[in-house]
Amino acid sequence: MKPVRVGICGLGTVGSGTFNVLTRNAREISARAGTDIIIEQIGARRDNPNADTSSSNVTRDVFDVVRNPNVDVVVELIGGTTVAKELVEEAIDNGKHVVTANKALIAEFGNELFARAEAKGVSIAYEAAVAGGIPIIKSLREGLGANKVEWLAGIINGTGNFILTEMKDKGRDFADVLKEAQELGYAEADPTFDVEGIDAAHKLVILASIAFGMPLQFDKIFTEGISTIQPQDVTYAEELGYRIKHLGIARQSEQGVELRVHPTLIPEKRLIANVDGVMNAVLVKGDAVGPTLYYGAGAGAEPTASAVVADVVDVARAFTAPQENKVAHLGFNAAALKDYPILPMGDVETAYYLRMTAEDRPGVLNQITQILSDAGVSIEALIQKEPHTGETAVPLILLTNRAVEKQMLAAVESIEALDSIQGGVSHIRVESLG
Ligand code: HSE
Repeated sequence: MKPVRVGICGLGTVGSGTFNVLTRNAREISARAGTDIIIEQIGARRDNPNADTSSSNVTRDVFDVVRNPNVDVVVELIGGTTVAKELVEEAIDNGKHVVTANKALIAEFGNELFARAEAKGVSIAYEAAVAGGIPIIKSLREGLGANKVEWLAGIINGTGNFILTEMKDKGRDFADVLKEAQELGYAEADPTFDVEGIDAAHKLVILASIAFGMPLQFDKIFTEGISTIQPQDVTYAEELGYRIKHLGIARQSEQGVELRVHPTLIPEKRLIANVDGVMNAVLVKGDAVGPTLYYGAGAGAEPTASAVVADVVDVARAFTAPQENKVAHLGFNAAALKDYPILPMGDVETAYYLRMTAEDRPGVLNQITQILSDAGVSIEALIQKEPHTGETAVPLILLTNRAVEKQMLAAVESIEALDSIQGGVSHIRVESLG
């Protein structure tokens, strides 16, 4: 077989990792692909001291790579959705296969890019876009191909998980941990994408579309970040036997599909509750297989490169295969994708953790429980501490059973309106993941 010639666009954290893995493991990679994989050209605005590209053909204009007639596969690692989109479109139009780690590009423009690629008879591979080195896209599209996926829940942002872990274990300051994540190359160029859940939302929409067989619908995801989590929430959650994790959750029910990213209390006995630091994990419940858990590094140079290079191998193996014999971009054939309705967050049912500051006088607890009981919400657990000397208000923490979000939020508003409650009521959703 003819060698497969790769053009790498972008030589940042993932680009340098990809160059190093392709070079270091060339023998294994070529043996698996059944052909030699050659780096034909690299497009990068500047060199990266972490990759010795001195004997490679390097251009400063990434568009040279997609216009190079000797390049068969374009590896897009520049990120963003402007230049990257133009680059991928031109690569497709020039008949080149594309491998990308760009979750924003796939989540927001995947539908049109996949259609464009299919019309041209080329593939877009994007394993590295979700959960770094974990082969979760391959698992969902192929390994779980026999199943109806009921739900999935994932820790799919390494930076956010790193921050929550450091807050729990070391009581470190939010901003200080974020700075470290940026220095380690985990965080997005705009780190609000990590802490406000946008990065996780990009990844979740991709997973959900593959799991349920529906077009990508990024604009419908409910997204809440971790910046409002207080250290005392982490402590109270532990006291109740839970950990707080920033989860992306997708669930299919008769009413529609839930797509939501938010901080979540999960029982500490679940394996996924113990996934710490920059590590990612995705829990997938299939109707035949039951629950399955995928764990690994969700960010960083070589873990992400591991997924990029695996895609290059896949593309190389299927290089001459007819389109209909390749794995479909979203696992389901394009004609079989269904536009399931996305459930508004107000209609979603979950349990809740509530934290408030209540005046320590007779009848206050009764007022709160009355509001909850009028809303059909029952209380599963409660923590109330004794007041410190001289103080008249105490923290009150409640765990409720499952309730419809809009009813729960209405009850929270009524509790906040009580004279006996100081300030707002913090609420964090709770999932048993059982
Ligand atoms: N900023 C992302 C994360 C990088 O922290 O998970 C990998 O997508």
